[in-house]
Order: sequence, then structure tokens, then C-alpha cells
Amino acid sequence: MSFAIELLGITKHYPGVVANDHVTIQIRDGEIHGLIGENGAGKSTIMNILYGMVKPDEGVIRLFERETEISSPMDAINQGIGMVHQHFMLMPDETVLRNIILGRAPKKGLAIDENGASREISEIMDKYGLSIDLKAKVSQISVGEKQRVEIIKALYRKVKILILDEPTAVLTPAETDALLDIMRKLKSQGCTIVFITHKLKEVMAVTDRITVMRKGIVTGAGDTAEMNVPKLSGMIVGREVKTEVPMKEFDPSEKVLELTNLNISGRPGRMPVHYMNLSVRRGEIVGIAGVEGNGQSDLVEAIAGLIPIDSGSIRLCGGEIGKDGVRGRRQKGLGHVPEDRLKTGVARECSIGENLILNHYYTAPFSRHGIFNHKKITEFAEELCRRFLVKTPDSTYALSTLSGGNMQKVVFAREFEASPELLIASQPTRGVDIGAIEYIHGKIAELRDSGKGILLVSAELDEILALSDRIVIMYEGEIVAQFMRGEADEYEIGEYMLGAKRQEVQSEG
Ligand SMILES: Nc1ncnc2c1ncn2[C@@H]1O[C@H](COP(=O)(O)OP(=O)(O)OP(=O)(O)O)[C@@H](O)[C@H]1O
Ligand SMILES: [Mg+2]
Repeated sequence: MSFAIELLGITKHYPGVVANDHVTIQIRDGEIHGLIGENGAGKSTIMNILYGMVKPDEGVIRLFERETEISSPMDAINQGIGMVHQHFMLMPDETVLRNIILGRAPKKGLAIDENGASREISEIMDKYGLSIDLKAKVSQISVGEKQRVEIIKALYRKVKILILDEPTAVLTPAETDALLDIMRKLKSQGCTIVFITHKLKEVMAVTDRITVMRKGIVTGAGDTAEMNVPKLSGMIVGREVKTEVPMKEFDPSEKVLELTNLNISGRPGRMPVHYMNLSVRRGEIVGIAGVEGNGQSDLVEAIAGLIPIDSGSIRLCGGEIGKDGVRGRRQKGLGHVPEDRLKTGVARECSIGENLILNHYYTAPFSRHGIFNHKKITEFAEELCRRFLVKTPDSTYALSTLSGGNMQKVVFAREFEASPELLIASQPTRGVDIGAIEYIHGKIAELRDSGKGILLVSAELDEILALSDRIVIMYEGEIVAQFMRGEADEYEIGEYMLGAKRQEVQSEG
């Protein structure tokens, strides 16, 4: 058995942390290799090194049994390595086709030969069972489609090794299944794949071998056939992880959020929301299940004040907020963990501490007469980082230095700490490791038990089922069913999510 990739004794220091400490990973030619481990373990770093984006301090890289150096992503591509990043890198205003051929466009005279390129790409899509509209603009396609564009882009460059950094974090269950199939197809065509994920079921389903990292070192590796989910959780966090969330008995009181006949035409190309009636009571977690793109995002953004409503009413703690701005709604007790943390959740170039006080930076004790009190900010930030398991050597570092999952924890910590009357949590554990999921779920339960309301939106049915007192299912901009905890299982919910079934009565009290 020969190796496609050997990373031998790779070390990478960043200020205050050793992101990779003499990491050795060997990946066989033609296998799907799972790379797993806690947030901040060093998974993205080691793969960014392989892709030539980050320069290691020490260590040797061998590709197909020959020692090599990889000086840039361009160099990596030339050596047959492609990577789909945790955060996509596409040009939103260009077409899918242009994004795929960027830098590699075939020419006819001086002009780009779009027809030739499109023929070549269609052949690739047929071969691997991928499909996408090449003429669509990237800004108009779904997240799952964007990811397919990234994969096709790599295949168009004829890579033999494909690195996928948390590709399923943003996908719906159906899209995830499709991606796992694509991975198997790629493997059958001789491609070697590195698959980074926090979802252990997926890693068990698709990989041949697995490497586990923790705090910058490799803590275990082996054949997937010899692993199981509890064993892997143990290897990742060093203890057993509970999936059941302890909560007080369900005892809801008055309505904290009340939506009446809400109509939202929403962003162009998205599903409008029609005559939505929904409420959340104090002491209640209402989970919205649904395939992404059925109006959940617009609903949440409209409640948070990020997009306008057409008609209807939004009442928070008894008062109408439909016309208030974002800050106004926050001051009245609304908290919001947005689904797209990089777009609306954080300021990447600001410090971790500044991001943690983003909602109330203009108030004492953090700011007086327009001047920041850095000592207070730092004290507050260090305390939050400790409690919410944000792994960083220093809270004054830029947020962009954090690993993906740790950024997500910052957003959650900030919103939780503001002690909102209603917390809208959209994909609150996206990209977060299993230990931190347990913690965040515990925090959501704690808010509920203290008499706050929670509106949870998640693409993870497991998450919806574990947390929700009441589950409502959205399909094509409407509520098509609702269940109390324990009334329906994931299969039944799945049927409503896909529009195969619909309950008669959707009014609620
Ligand atoms: N550009 C950078 N500057 C400073 N520190 C960094 C930088 N990139 C990564 N780090 C640090 O290196 C460590 C490893 O980060 P890395 O992104 O590799 O983690 P990860 O295993 O991919 O985590 P996640 O599951 O959250 O994506 C973290 O402590 C992170 O804060
Ligand atoms: Mg990462």
C-alpha cells in the first residue's frame, strides 16, 4: 500500500499557541481519510500547510512517496492537490462558470472560450455525478451548490487529492448524503480525500481510516472498521459525551414572542413567508425544522430586524417591535445568533474582546464618554472565553485568528451573556465540536429554565429533537405541522419537511 500524502513531524507556531506540534499523518493512495478533533486542535492548519497556504516552521511533506515543498495554493494545485475551505472563497457576482475557470480559462484568440470550458466542465460533472447551472450567478445559488462549485473547480484543475474542510457543516441532510456519494464516486475514480468533520456518524459512514487531533498533536489513528462513535468521542474530548440535555419539567408561562399574520417577501430568490402565526412562551424552546430555503432564514432575519416585513405584527414581551431597528429590538430583550457568523455575526478584524461586547460597546463599564475601557473589556472577555471554552491564548487577538468553531462560540457567548428575553438561535452549534455542543445545549436549556424563550432554527434534526419543547415544521414559507416533544420522530418530521404530508390545523395558542 503506497501513501499519497505523508506529513512528517510538521510544526507550526502562532503567537501564544503551537497549532501543530510535530504532527505526523500518513494517508494512503485512494482512501477517504477522516481528520477529526476539537475546535482549535489544528486540523485546518495542517491542511492549510498541505495546500501551501500556511508555511510550516518544521517538518517534511511527501506526495506519492516523494519529498516535496508546497509554496502556494497555485503550487499545490500544480502538484495535484485541491482544497475546499471551511469558509468558501468564491466571487459572488460572477457566474458559476467564471468561478470554475478562474485563472485557467481556455482562450480562443484573446477571448475566453466559454463554450469550450462549459463542454469540458459538463464532462467532469457527468463523470462524477455532479450537477449545477453554469450560467447562474454565485450569489443566487444555495450553500450546497456553492460547495459543489468549489469541488468542480478543483476537479477542473485535475487534482488527485481533495481536501474537504468541514464540508457538511452548512449542508442539509439530503445535501450531505449527496456529498458523501460524490466522495465515494471520487474515490472509485482513484482520488484521495481528506475529510475534516465534527459529525462522527458521517466519518463512520464514509471514511477508510481516521486520524484524531487534540491541542496540536495527533492523539490516535486507525481503521474506521475498528472505531465506533462512543470510542471516537472519547478520543476527541477525553471523556464520555452526553447527547441528552437535562432540563426542568416543561412549564411555560406568558408569550414572549408573538407573530401574527406575518408576511415577508424576503430577499430576491428566496421563499416568501405567508401569514405566519407563531408564538414562543417563557420557559419554552420552539424548534423550527425544515429543509433550508423554506423561509426560515427570512423569518429569523425579519424578527431580528435585518429585513423588513410586508405586513403583520411582531410582538416582543407584549410590545410591537415590527418597526424598530436592530438596536432597538436588542434593547427590548432580543438576542440573535445568526446563521452566517462571518457575514452578520462578527467583525473579523476586531479583537475577540471587542466582538464579545459588540452589542453594548457604547455603554458602561466598557465605554465612557466614547472612550473604551480596555481593562474592563479584557476582564470580561477572558472570563467569557474561559466559560464558553473559546480556545485562544489572548482575547486581544483579532477574531480572525480563531478556529472556525471558536468563532461560533464567541457569537453564542455574546448573545447568551446579554441575557435576552427571547433568544433566536440559528444553527447555534454549526462547526462546533462535540464537547462544546454539549455545553451550548446546556446553556440553551439553562436560559429556558430561567424563564426565557428560545426560538431555535437548525438544519440538524438531532439538535431540534434534543432541545425543543415544541417543534414546528416549515415548508414553502408556511408552517405545515407542529408537535410537542416526543410526539414525532425524525422520520415523521422528515416527511413534513419534504412536503409529503401536511397537518390540517396550524393555529396555535
Ligand atoms: N492565522 C492565525 N493566527 C493566529 N493563530 C491562529 C491562526 N490560525 C489558527 N490559529 C490558532 O491555531 C490553532 C489551531 O487552529 P485550527 O484552525 O487549525 O483549528 P481546527 O482544528 O481547524 O478547529 P475548528 O474545528 O474550530 O475549525 C487555534 O488555537 C487557532 O487559534
Ligand atoms: Mg478548522
